[in-house]
Order: sequence, then structure tokens, then C-alpha cells
Amino acid sequence: MMNESKELNGKTAVITGAGSGLGRSIAIGIARAGANVVIADINKQQATQTCEMINKKMPEVTATAVLCDVTNEVDVEKIFANIKESFESFDILVNAAGVAPAGALVDMPVDKWRFALEVNLTGYFLMAKHAARLMIEQGTGGTIVNLSSKSGLDASKNNTPYNATKAGELHMARGWAMELGQHNIRVNSVCPGNVFEGSKIWNPEYIKVCAKKYNIEPEEVIPHYVSKTILNKEIKGRDIADAVVFLASEKSRMITGQTLVVDAGQVMVR
Ligand SMILES: NC(=O)c1ccc[n+]([C@@H]2O[C@H](COP(=O)([O-])OP(=O)(O)OC[C@H]3O[C@@H](n4cnc5c(N)ncnc54)[C@H](O)[C@@H]3O)[C@@H](O)[C@H]2O)c1
Repeated sequence: MMNESKELNGKTAVITGAGSGLGRSIAIGIARAGANVVIADINKQQATQTCEMINKKMPEVTATAVLCDVTNEVDVEKIFANIKESFESFDILVNAAGVAPAGALVDMPVDKWRFALEVNLTGYFLMAKHAARLMIEQGTGGTIVNLSSKSGLDASKNNTPYNATKAGELHMARGWAMELGQHNIRVNSVCPGNVFEGSKIWNPEYIKVCAKKYNIEPEEVIPHYVSKTILNKEIKGRDIADAVVFLASEKSRMITGQTLVVDAGQVMVR
């Protein structure tokens, strides 16, 4: 801990979906880098657990759990009003709250499709809208990172809502980078490969859908995905968190509107 660099010292970050999986890993990574973190999740209990994990290991930063449905603009506005009152500055937004309703196109109920659009697109949009407003008002710049997916670049089979929304998140980020650069707000995306550690997306039902897709047994799913990577390694939450910390830090000061793929070499960006 003592030797770790503190590239986000004194910053304040909001991470959505940080009650679980990748959002949680990212919140821990950002706190480890020295920033205060606001953990926004629809599951307050799990958000609180993330805060407890951070408070225990990194007492030098503040971790706050907030109940927030990212699709509800009133919830979203409240978060930024509270941050304005409680912190000296607001610097980093990470959009990670996401859902992945899987299934074949011909069987996909429209409500599952609409649900994914609402969380993965409307949720990212509302958070970025109000984060950018506060950053512009402060006049000190900031960074926004959208957690997309390699499925946003290379479509995955039986995943229509996920493919569409993850590609949409990448393109929204590019447009926001164009709009917000004049305010010194950088916007980038991270596309993780398959990350099983702590993820509720990779629940037993989802693993069964994937097993069926590849005609393998559910217990073969993780080794199957790992074998698709060039490095033949399982990607962990920390690997994604390190990429997000880089994009949130000064070290990436000349990078905006870009996509960083962290997938152990599965998808080649064209
Ligand atoms: N795990 C992977 O393999 C993988 C790969 C690529 C991209 N991603 C992306 O990473 C993000 C997190 O995925 P994960 O696997 O950690 O999933 P997860 O289900 O473990 O975590 C998602 C979190 O988002 C929260 N959430 C859901 N709807 C919300 C809402 N309306 N408002 C606020 N919070 C809400 C959930 O409560 C949960 O804590 C998603 O955007 C996903 O697309 C994941």
C-alpha cells in the first residue's frame, strides 16, 4: 500500500453499479488511487458492503453508499446535489451499472430489450448529463469513463440488447468527448473481455445460456472463454480497474473520445 502511486489523490468519483462485480472492483481501484468514492447502486445493501470494504482497507478516503436507480433522473440529480454540498470538487464519473438480458432474437421479449436500453443507455446518459453539468459549473474539468464491453465492438451471439446498448455506449462517449472537450472534460470507454469474478451478470442462468450457445457443459464455460484470449488468462476486476484509473488520471491527459479494450487479446480493434 505504501509504495502504491496515488494518482487520484484529493479527487472525488462517482461509480455506478459499484455494489457488485466490475463496478465494485473499479470503486476499490479508484479509492486505492487516493480518491473519495460515491458508490451509486440500486442495491443499497451491496453498495454499503463495497463502502465497508474500502473503509476497512483505505481509511484515508471517504466511501459513501447512495441508493440510486440510474434510470431515474430525480435520483441522479440528488446524487450530484449532495456531492456539491459535501465535497470540494467532483472530478470523475464511471458509468458501470449495466444489465445483460441474454437469449435468441426470435425469443427475446420486448420488455427485456426495453429494460436493457433503459439501464445501459438511458442510465449512462442521465449520469453523464448531470455529471457534466456539475463539472462545467465548477470550471475545473473532469473525466467520464463508460464501461462498455468487447460485445460493443464484436457482437456476441444471442445477445441483441447487450450488443446494441454496449455499442451505443461507445458512440455516446465519442459524442460527449466532442461536446465536453472545450470544458477540459475527457470522455473515454473501457471494453472489458469476460470477467467472471464477482459478477452477477455471470449468474447460473446466463452461464447456462452460454453453455447452450457453444454446446458445452456449464462448468466448461469459464475455461472456454479463457481459451479464446491470446494471453490464455482469466481477466480479473483489478485488470479493468487499473485501466479505468489510468483513464481517470492525469497520465491520460491527452486521451479523449477513445476506447481501451482490456480483454487479454480477444478482440482486435479495427
Ligand atoms: N462481467 C463481465 O464479463 C463484463 C464484461 C464486459 C462489460 N461488463 C460491464 O460491466 C458492468 C458491470 O457488469 P458486472 O458483470 O459487474 O455486473 P453485476 O450485475 O455484477 O453488477 C451490476 C451492478 O449494477 C447495479 N445496477 C443494475 N441496474 C441498476 C440501476 N438501474 N441503477 C443503479 N444500479 C444498477 C446492480 O445492482 C449491480 O450492483 C456492466 O456495464 C457490464 O456491461 C461486464
